[in-house]
Amino acid sequence: MWPDRRPPPPAELRAAAREADGLLCLLSDSVDADLMDACPRLVAISVYAVGTDNVDLAAATERGIQVGHTPDVLTETTADLAFALMLAVARRVVEGDGLVRRGEWPPWEPSAFLGEDVNGATLGIVGMGRIGSALARRAEGFAMEVLHSARSGGLPLAELLERSDFVSLHVPLTPETRALIGEDELRRMKGTAVLVNTARGEIVDTAALVRALGEGWIAGAGLDVTDPEPLSADHPLLDLPNVVVTPHVGSATRRTREGMADLAVDNLLAALRGERMPRLANPDVTPSATRPAP
Ligand code: GLV
Ligand code: GLV
Repeated sequence: MWPDRRPPPPAELRAAAREADGLLCLLSDSVDADLMDACPRLVAISVYAVGTDNVDLAAATERGIQVGHTPDVLTETTADLAFALMLAVARRVVEGDGLVRRGEWPPWEPSAFLGEDVNGATLGIVGMGRIGSALARRAEGFAMEVLHSARSGGLPLAELLERSDFVSLHVPLTPETRALIGEDELRRMKGTAVLVNTARGEIVDTAALVRALGEGWIAGAGLDVTDPEPLSADHPLLDLPNVVVTPHVGSATRRTREGMADLAVDNLLAALRGERMPRLANPDVTPSATRPAP
């Protein structure tokens, strides 16, 4: 067990995991082919997250290593945070709280501190999987028009971006989705639109986003994930008043983190018993029950 709050440097992880049959890792641990080759007994990689972009899935599959993850248990909790970011940016919740705390409570004026309505607006969901669908259910209660764009159907991304007042990202990070939202995409969005990202920071081109927000191509952004992560306090994103950033806490409720822990352990133990993991991220794997000792 790694005792520090910061993730282990790769060399230390490699040294510590050398004899391991299973690895229970966080999304901040990079599990690549080198690490797998340094751990010849490894039959199980259990990721305490739904996203598995930190693991080289193809390399694991090639080596007969099962990779587990934690879908479903965090779906509703993460959708809650995406909705919270939409509301926070649209109604300037964090900005307002900041004024009050600094002793700058503004006079009540008809045209002061105006934001945008979430109710009745058009929400564009990019990636209509578990979390995207959960967000759509919330949007119904706010009488929003919901558009979506997904591999399996929906609108072309360009059209969704042009029509939406809020755009929320719910695709996994893959080579195809890296920098999916760049300058062209941000320029297609409405000047009053808000971008929400609770998926992975690398899905958005950060430099383009800073320009989009600074130059008014879009109105604001709510980000639970960023590229890089963590974001340093002097990052240009944080000079912008129309951005709300939370520190990658989409699944961070007591109940959900317990559910994720249970599932991550169930995945790990199943593979160590030679069974199929209940939530397998590389279903094409042919598990090698035991691997040759070093
Ligand atoms: C968190 O980002 C997760 O993938 O579970
Ligand atoms: C606002 O507080 C109102 O009464 O409209």
